[in-house]
Amino acid sequence: MSKSHDGKDGAASARPRSCDGEEGAASARPRFHGRRSGKALRRNALGLIDNLLPRLAIAVPEPTDRLDLLSLFPRPVREVWLEVGFGGGEHLAHLAEAHPDIGLIGGEVFRNGIASLLGHVQTRGLDNVRIFPEDVRLLLPALPESALTRVFVLFPDPWPKTRHAERRFVCPDNLDAIAHILSDGGELRVASDDPIYVDWATKHLDAHPAFEKVLATTQRETLPADWPATRYEQKCLAGRAPTFFLYRRRLRQLPM
Ligand SMILES: C[S@@+](CC[C@H](N)C(=O)[O-])C[C@H]1O[C@@H](n2cnc3c(N)ncnc32)[C@H](O)[C@@H]1O
Repeated sequence: MSKSHDGKDGAASARPRSCDGEEGAASARPRFHGRRSGKALRRNALGLIDNLLPRLAIAVPEPTDRLDLLSLFPRPVREVWLEVGFGGGEHLAHLAEAHPDIGLIGGEVFRNGIASLLGHVQTRGLDNVRIFPEDVRLLLPALPESALTRVFVLFPDPWPKTRHAERRFVCPDNLDAIAHILSDGGELRVASDDPIYVDWATKHLDAHPAFEKVLATTQRETLPADWPATRYEQKCLAGRAPTFFLYRRRLRQLPM
């Protein structure tokens, strides 16, 4: 962690920074267009939602809140990473198990996915996972500047129709928010198998002044070793080859 919570970190905005939020009132919430639930959960999954989730969940912050990330975890962690839209949580759980000294925050709206991650947390006995079971854009403004060293946005919903382009998670507002919470040199990892999204992400990531491209590749074997496949990636491998992006947060300019 390069900076602790002091409430004076110059967070760019207290209102949710969304690409398609309702503008205006400070209490405006971004609109979420994806699915919140799928098929009925089995009893075990319901039990995890009822009993384990309340112990791991991060509550929706007030617009002016700044979270003390280190206090979220039951023991000291060296760094904190955030996964946006973790799906079934396989990637997050793998990283949490491989890096017990890292605190992992996962944001996901899809209840069945949250239950799936809870299952992994329970089975593997993970104590370094915290879950934001809501639209992650409500969390971003509450994260202190430079508080995270990695952010993952893996196979975001592609919204391929032009009229839905403003729903794509990779967009200037969200990239601004991620640039704010990432420490200097921190990593942003993105992946997509949708050619429209790949072009879109390339355009927005390359254009953002805070990010420097490290790699953009379809060659999985060239990725860092600790880049496990997500469930979505495993499903899409039979079809379109995904593109993987790794960008680094540029050093902040020192004040003159
Ligand atoms: C295509 S799925 C990919 C899931 C996972 N990353 C994978 O690769 O298997 C995209 C996921 O992102 C979630 N998602 C989309 N926008 C989100 C947001 N603003 N906050 C939290 N989760 C979001 C969706 O609910 C969905 O589960």
